[in-house]
Amino acid sequence: KSSLITLKKIDEKFVLHLFSKSIELKKNFNEHRLSSGPYHSGYKGTAALLFFEPSTRTRFSFEAASSRAGYHPMILDGGIGTSIEKGETIEDTISNIQALRPSFFVIRCQDHVNLEQIDSLIDVPIINAGWGKRGHPTQALLDGLTIHEKLGSIAAKNILFVGDIKHSRVVASHRELSEVLKYNMGFCAPREFLPEVISTGIQCFSNLPEALEWADVVIALRVQKERHENENLFLIEDYRENFGLNNERLKLAKPNAVIMHPGPINYGVEIESEILQDPRCVILKQVENGAFLREALIRSIVDKEKGD
Ligand code: CP
Repeated sequence: KSSLITLKKIDEKFVLHLFSKSIELKKNFNEHRLSSGPYHSGYKGTAALLFFEPSTRTRFSFEAASSRAGYHPMILDGGIGTSIEKGETIEDTISNIQALRPSFFVIRCQDHVNLEQIDSLIDVPIINAGWGKRGHPTQALLDGLTIHEKLGSIAAKNILFVGDIKHSRVVASHRELSEVLKYNMGFCAPREFLPEVISTGIQCFSNLPEALEWADVVIALRVQKERHENENLFLIEDYRENFGLNNERLKLAKPNAVIMHPGPINYGVEIESEILQDPRCVILKQVENGAFLREALIRSIVDKEKGD
């Protein structure tokens, strides 16, 4: 069974196949908008989309991707209005939904949920849609697709992460993907936002101008106040002054640099809204690509599983 819980064992050939399939799906979708007739593939089954943590981009793009691939989405959104409010566990919720025979699961959950163990008990594929601080593989893949589309390839490129690296599941998945696609990672953050252990090979910058000169791609990260627990890390003005991205700062970046953010954005903290007008900014392209990447993934792993 081909679940996607981490990117640790993903194959380079499979990732490049996902990128080319996503680009083909986007082309077909855009061409179809100019014609008439049904776009999607007809009903193939159901998709159980279970979001135990909040989401806008990932949830809506999996919903669009499932429908376009022919799977009717069944959505659990935050557990409100479900028997979780009566004390039913996440594990029991999932095994009951499995009894309804969905073709696959998409799950966003907290760190304490053992997604790998759940995967071993479920007989259809599970796709990780954001697992606490542990990983967000489809976000790293859609970032990779967006960079591949803009720069022709991601291999050997310098990808700079600015901000709350310590609490970022997006960075956790990029660490895995960078091993497969062979890109260089750089971190620029205040000490409090850096992980305790940083793998060899990752460039660390305490100075944003120097980091921006190095980068082919700049990925700003959301300051994740909800994951800071009791840590008193956050002084908005200090952060904005030293690490916030604005038009002036981005004059130091390469003319063809790619400016990204996984969303949601704290405007006036990690990014000023003026950045959205910078022609190098692809933040909404990331969102658009997310639906095609997820559709390509569903078609590759779920259709294959079903023998379609
Ligand atoms: N990038 C991302 O995961 O956004 P959402 O939390 O809105 O899904």
